[in-house]
Amino acid sequence: MIRGGRAGYDRPRVLAAARRASTLELFQLAGLRPGMRCVDLGCGSGDVTLDIAALAGPGGWVAGIDMDQAKLEFARQAARERGLANVAFEAADVSQWTGPGEYDFVYCRFLLQHLASPAGLLRQMWDAVRPGGVLAVEDADLEGLFCDPDNAGFSFYRRMYLEVLARNGGDPTCARRLARYFRETGIPAPAMRLLQGVNAGGDAKAMPLLTLYAIADAIVSSGLAAAAEVTAAIENLRAFTTDPDTLISDPRIFQVWARRGTGDATAVPQEGTSRPHHQAVVQPPVACGTGTAIAESSAPEEDPLTTEAPTGRPPAQPLTSASAQTRLFCSQRLARAAPQ
Ligand SMILES: C[S@@+](CC[C@H](N)C(=O)[O-])C[C@H]1O[C@@H](n2cnc3c(N)ncnc32)[C@H](O)[C@@H]1O
Repeated sequence: MIRGGRAGYDRPRVLAAARRASTLELFQLAGLRPGMRCVDLGCGSGDVTLDIAALAGPGGWVAGIDMDQAKLEFARQAARERGLANVAFEAADVSQWTGPGEYDFVYCRFLLQHLASPAGLLRQMWDAVRPGGVLAVEDADLEGLFCDPDNAGFSFYRRMYLEVLARNGGDPTCARRLARYFRETGIPAPAMRLLQGVNAGGDAKAMPLLTLYAIADAIVSSGLAAAAEVTAAIENLRAFTTDPDTLISDPRIFQVWARRGTGDATAVPQEGTSRPHHQAVVQPPVACGTGTAIAESSAPEEDPLTTEAPTGRPPAQPLTSASAQTRLFCSQRLARAAPQ
């Protein structure tokens, strides 16, 4: 429903920049640490995935999963440019994703609102958390959006976004049910924060306008409004967004997280369903898709979000697909993490 390709890459980058500070706070509160094995589901542009990679440090790693190949290509390029060797991106539908007991930090942001069965994915995510590991989720309750003063373009955007999301099988208010889904999944005592910003300017204020651009085709093709109506709303909202005397709120953002007890059993892969990267295949320590070497030190950097990993030798063997890259990437890290 949201435009893909370059346009589909740029919008989540603006989103990521606008939400970065509160996401980094969540990572601190939830206990994301150097050395952790992480996964970011519905990673989109990969900006958050790259922050996780920096925080996990050279002794940890992160896999970013999304079904949008075009965004993942941009994300891989960004990882190469930042010299981050401990990240891999894989194209997959998260409804098919499993990783029982494989991860220390399992995360998704603004993904569950798009899914017909968010509770089903939560179950899969919790199964993927190792003892002592963390499940952390962020999502938006879109009914919380407001502006001041009233604006026809903004009202149109709000109504259309909720409608298009629901018609595509999503749930615009699923975020307010996250804690309940956690409990229903048997996840004990989730911690929760509710955040809502309001903006007189900047990236966050532009998000409704960018989103309206991004869903314009979906609005027209689904017959919700005529093209002329969408164009008029975009013009109206553009003028409103650039007026410093107006306010546009963020949606209500729910952050919910829980830690698995160190004595808890995790799900075990069933016979015939384990993926190749569950096995600790010994490979030379090369990064996949980045062409850079894995730094051997596990000491945390002074500022992991700005420090770049050293660059080095190219991959030892050609990799034919993103999926092969991720499997090799993960098997290398499992091999490195295995007790000697
Ligand atoms: C709103 S974006 C959020 C991107 C990123 N998590 C962030 O917060 O910046 C939602 C992402 O979920 C992805 N997505 C939606 N449904 C998916 C599915 N079933 N499997 C994999 N990815 C999916 C979309 O391609 C999109 O990149």
